[in-house]
Amino acid sequence: VEQTHVYLTSLDMGKFSHGTKLLVKAIFKEPIFYFYLTASIKKLVYHLTQPFANVTGSLNDKGVCQCSVYLPDTTFPVQKVEMLQITAYTLSEKFDRELSKVSQYTAAIEIYEQKIRNLTIKVEHMEKTSVSYTELDFQLLKLEITEMERLVTQLKSTLVGSNEIVEQLYVEIRNLTLIVNDLESLDKNNILAIRREIVALQNRLKECETSRNQTNTPTYFPPGSCGHGGIVNISQPYVVQLNWRGFPFKYGAWGRDFFPQTPQNDLYWVAPLNTDGRLLEYYRLYNSYDDLLLFKNAREKRIVYGEGSGTAVYNNSMYYNIYNSRDMGKLDLNTNTLTVRKTLPDAAMGNRFSYAGVGWQDIDFAVDESGLWVIYSTEDSTGNIVISKLNETTLDVLHTWKTKQYKPSVSNAFIICGVLYATRPVNTRKEEIFYTFNTNTEQEGKISIIMDKMLETIQSINYNPSDHTLYVYNDGYQVKYNLIFQPVLH
Ligand SMILES: *[C@@H]1O[C@H](CO)[C@@H](O)[C@H](O)[C@H]1NC(C)=O
Ligand SMILES: *[C@@H]1O[C@H](CO)[C@@H](O)[C@H](O)[C@H]1NC(C)=O
Ligand SMILES: *[C@@H]1O[C@H](CO)[C@@H](O)[C@H](O)[C@H]1NC(C)=O
Ligand SMILES: *[C@@H]1O[C@H](CO)[C@@H](O)[C@H](O)[C@H]1NC(C)=O
Ligand SMILES: *[C@@H]1O[C@H](CO)[C@@H](O)[C@H](O)[C@H]1NC(C)=O
Ligand SMILES: *[C@@H]1O[C@H](CO)[C@@H](O)[C@H](O)[C@H]1NC(C)=O
Ligand SMILES: *[C@@H]1O[C@H](CO)[C@@H](O)[C@H](O)[C@H]1NC(C)=O
Repeated sequence: VEQTHVYLTSLDMGKFSHGTKLLVKAIFKEPIFYFYLTASIKKLVYHLTQPFANVTGSLNDKGVCQCSVYLPDTTFPVQKVEMLQITAYTLSEKFDRELSKVSQYTAAIEIYEQKIRNLTIKVEHMEKTSVSYTELDFQLLKLEITEMERLVTQLKSTLVGSNEIVEQLYVEIRNLTLIVNDLESLDKNNILAIRREIVALQNRLKECETSRNQTNTPTYFPPGSCGHGGIVNISQPYVVQLNWRGFPFKYGAWGRDFFPQTPQNDLYWVAPLNTDGRLLEYYRLYNSYDDLLLFKNAREKRIVYGEGSGTAVYNNSMYYNIYNSRDMGKLDLNTNTLTVRKTLPDAAMGNRFSYAGVGWQDIDFAVDESGLWVIYSTEDSTGNIVISKLNETTLDVLHTWKTKQYKPSVSNAFIICGVLYATRPVNTRKEEIFYTFNTNTEQEGKISIIMDKMLETIQSINYNPSDHTLYVYNDGYQVKYNLIFQPVLH
């Protein structure tokens, strides 16, 4: 305790299990406040921990942690004590608040008093050497002083009010403390201690289970990061909505734009094809997920025409196969203008090597952490998947990889961290991610990750690196999947 300031010492909370309530016994004496923390709770824990010190848990054959404790039968009013403890806790919190107000006001008053003294000195000085000062200067100073006085009076009266509240709180708290102490002495069977012990044991069981579960919980990878060892599992599908054009529009694509430099930007796009399953004509943009869900504030645009559902969006541009050609288009989404059109050399076109069960997707764009890719086939590759990395500014092909996987036998593909993943149907309700091609190592791989699906055909898959989510267009429904990556094995 130091002059008018009050210092509270916090208990070592670590000693108490979560949820333990502490009683604060306080003796209030103007102008100095003294605080004590009762040892009662501590005492209880001390002298009552003994009977349970050696309760040991066990792991049963199902791997569940368990332990038993003996709870004596008694008429001790546990509930009442607990209620009291809660009330006492609330009261002491209120008390603390009032008390901190008092010290704030006291500090403020000190400053004001000092200001008044300073002003008085100024006035005196001015009066002594008055010649050059006008009447107005004095008036202003006097006004200032009056204002100060008013503030101080106001503060003082608030302080008095506060004092009463504090006083009353103090009485209430002391009353409660007495009752609790009283009840405590009745607690012959150590019910409170047993309760606390049980809570502690429950917490320990929870911890035990959590730590057991931890081995199964997926490791977190930051958005856009490639510091993982690829997909290890996938969540259940989450149906976002039916596309805005309705159930007949079974073909199309949707996704969330990936802005590498400004990941805080949000832009969702939905591009259902016309019902012929070929023409891309209309698309919609939404500036937030909420808008998308509510079909609100949509910007609807028309283009003539794109082909197939291999569309992807990257950094505020849409990339798509231009109708009836092997040309790639880059569309500025702000202006809906085609800014670049370039032929994809040797690409098969005209539904020659589209995906299994999906028409007109000879050219499939993909976005990953490093930018824009295109997945297609050529006559030269005899229909096997060819992957090219594109310059997203010019649509020039920067590098090309040929795989040994026949494109018409896979249902879709996407790229994560330079690794192509291809899917195939297992049955009408399950899809399998079964094939990988790592462009970093030029290695092919087989994996088996089962994706549940709502309807039979997956028309497109778009990956967003910032949220590690697959945006899937499933027979007209917009569906999301979260990806789980495996930690890199060292
Ligand atoms: C609990 O068990 C341990 C080991 O079995 C023993 O060392 C310890 O003294 C026991 N404590 C009590 C309070 O019985
Ligand atoms: C009062 O005057 C003293 C000395 O000139 C100065 O240090 C102090 O900050 C002043 N106080 C206020 C509240 O203006
Ligand atoms: C304190 O307890 C006594 C007796 O239990 C009761 O009469 C009194 O009203 C209580 N005071 C307050 C402020 O709760
Ligand atoms: C641990 O996992 C099991 C099932 O795997 C679950 O039922 C339980 O709630 C989990 N426990 C915790 C503490 O997360
Ligand atoms: C993969 O995820 C599914 C669904 O979330 C879950 O049921 C399954 O246990 C997971 N499999 C593995 C090997 O973690
Ligand atoms: C994304 O677009 C912005 C604005 O047009 C541009 O400044 C930036 O360079 C682009 N980023 C990439 C990686 O292309
Ligand atoms: C893409 O093309 C632009 C314009 O020619 C060039 O400035 C940029 O360096 C190219 N990017 C890559 C990755 O080659």
